Amino acid sequence: MQIQSQIVTLTKNTIKTLVVGLNTAKPLSETLDTLDKASGGFFTQQLEAGTLPEKTGEIRTFYQVPGVDNQTIVVVAFDRTQKGLVAASKKIVGYLRSHRIDNAHIALLLNDFGLSKKKAARLISQTFIDADYVFESFKSKVEEKTPLTICLVLEQTDKKVETGILEGLAIGYGMNILKDLGNIPSNVCTPKYLAGYAKKLAKKHNNLSTQILKKEAIKKLKMGALLSVSKGSKQKPRLIQLTYRGAQNKKSNPIVLVGKGVTFDTGGISLKPGASMDEMKYDMCGAGSVIGAIKAIAMLNLPINVIGIVPAVENMPSGHASKPGDIVTSMSGKTIEILNTDAEGRLILCDALTYAQRFNPKAIIDIATLTGAVIIGLGRQPSGLMSNNEALANALIDAGEASGDRVWQLPLWEEYLEQLQSPFADLQNIGGRDAGTITAGCFLGEFAKDVAWAHLDIAGTAWRSGKNKGATGRPVPLLVEYLMSQVD
Ligand code: BES
Ligand code: MN
Ligand code: ZN
Repeated sequence: MQIQSQIVTLTKNTIKTLVVGLNTAKPLSETLDTLDKASGGFFTQQLEAGTLPEKTGEIRTFYQVPGVDNQTIVVVAFDRTQKGLVAASKKIVGYLRSHRIDNAHIALLLNDFGLSKKKAARLISQTFIDADYVFESFKSKVEEKTPLTICLVLEQTDKKVETGILEGLAIGYGMNILKDLGNIPSNVCTPKYLAGYAKKLAKKHNNLSTQILKKEAIKKLKMGALLSVSKGSKQKPRLIQLTYRGAQNKKSNPIVLVGKGVTFDTGGISLKPGASMDEMKYDMCGAGSVIGAIKAIAMLNLPINVIGIVPAVENMPSGHASKPGDIVTSMSGKTIEILNTDAEGRLILCDALTYAQRFNPKAIIDIATLTGAVIIGLGRQPSGLMSNNEALANALIDAGEASGDRVWQLPLWEEYLEQLQSPFADLQNIGGRDAGTITAGCFLGEFAKDVAWAHLDIAGTAWRSGKNKGATGRPVPLLVEYLMSQVD
C-alpha cells in the first residue's frame, strides 16, 4: 500500500474518489464545508434532508455533485476521538475494497481528534495497513488485489504528518508480520521456520542481525527447562536472537524483548482437550510480536538498542516427552518440578529470561500467550501486565493508552509465591486454580530478580476466536509505542 500526503484542490477532477470526513458533532464544519460552498449548498440540502451519515463509520456516497468535477464523494462520519478515527478508518478501507477502488484521496481535519496531527496521521496509516490485511496464502485460488494508493489531503505540507504516516506504515507492517506468523499453521510455522524468518528479515535491514542457537548450543547453555518442553517433539528447538542497534552509542544498554515461541501447544502429556486446540498455533504470538515490533523500529531507524530473544519450541506428547513430576534444572540453577506439562510457556521463558540478563538490559519485557486465566480475569480487551518495577509498568500503561493497545496491571505480591512451593524442587511450575495469571507471572519473576522486568500476558488479545478467527497484530502497537517513548 502507498500512503502519502499532498496539497490538492478538492473540487478538481484529478481526484477520482474523495473521502471526506464529517464531524458527527458539527456536520459541514470541515472539508465538507468547502465542497458545500463549491456546490452551491448541495451538502446543506443533504443535511436538511437527513441523508448525511450520522454515526461513526457510517458512509454515504454522492456522485456528480454540482460544481465539483467528475468524482465520487464518499462522506464518512467520525467521532472526534482516537477511537472514532480508528473505527472510521477501518470502515473506509472496507468501503474502498468492496467497491474495488484502489486509489483515493482522504480529506479530514487532522488536528480535530484531540491528537497531534502527526499522531492522527500515524493512526490513519497504521489502521489502513492493519485493516487491509488478509491471510490467503493457503488458499489455492485467490483474487488478485491491487495495492491501495491513499493520499491524505492537506492544506499545507507538513513534515510531521509525513513522519506520522511513516510511523503508521511501520507499525502496520509490524502488526501484519505478527498476524502472518500467528495465522500460518504449525505444520509450516515451526521453530526452524521462525528462525529462518528472523534471519531473512535481518537481511533486509542493515541495522538488524540475528544469532540462531540450535539444540546443541542450547544444551551447552544448560537451558534444562526449555529443553524439557521441546524434547517430546520431532521439531528441534531454536533460541533466536534479533539484535537491533540504532542508538548512537552501539554499546548503550539495550531493552530486551523476550517472546514466547511455542509453535504449537498440545499441552504435552498433560494433553489439552480437543475443542479449539487448533488455536494453539497462536501460542507463538509473543515471538511474533517481538519480531514484528523489531521490524517496525528497524524501518523507523529508532535511535535505541533493542534485542529480541525468542525461545522457540513445539510442545508435544510422545515417548520422549516430559511427564508430570519430572524435575529439571533451569539455566539459572533453580530446579523445577513439572507438575503440568501444559504450563510450558514459563519453562521456556525462565531460561530465556536468565539468558537475557547477559546483555545488561535497561529493561526486559516478556510477551507471552501464557494463561487461559487471563481471559477469565480480564476478557479480551487488555493484555495482562505484571512487573517488578513501577516506572517500567507505568511506561507500559501509558504506551497502552496512547496506542489504544491497552494493558491492565495485576499484582505480583510475594505471598503468591507460596503457591509455587514444591516439596521436592526449588519451584513447581503450577500454582493451582487461584490467580493463575499471577502465579505464572510470579514464577517468571523468580528468574528476573535483579533487573527491571515486565511481563505481558497476551492470551486474551493476540487472536480472535470464532467466525473472525485470526491474529490481531496486538501487542505490536503497544511495544512500538513503548520503544518510541524510550528514545531520549
Ligand atoms: N498457551 C497456553 C495458554 C492459553 C490457553 C492461551 C488457552 C489461550 C487460550 C498455556 O501454555 C497453558 O496451557 N496454560 C495453562 C496453565 C495451567 C496448566 C496452569 C492454562 O492456562 O490452562
Ligand atoms: Mn500450555
Ligand atoms: Zn502455551
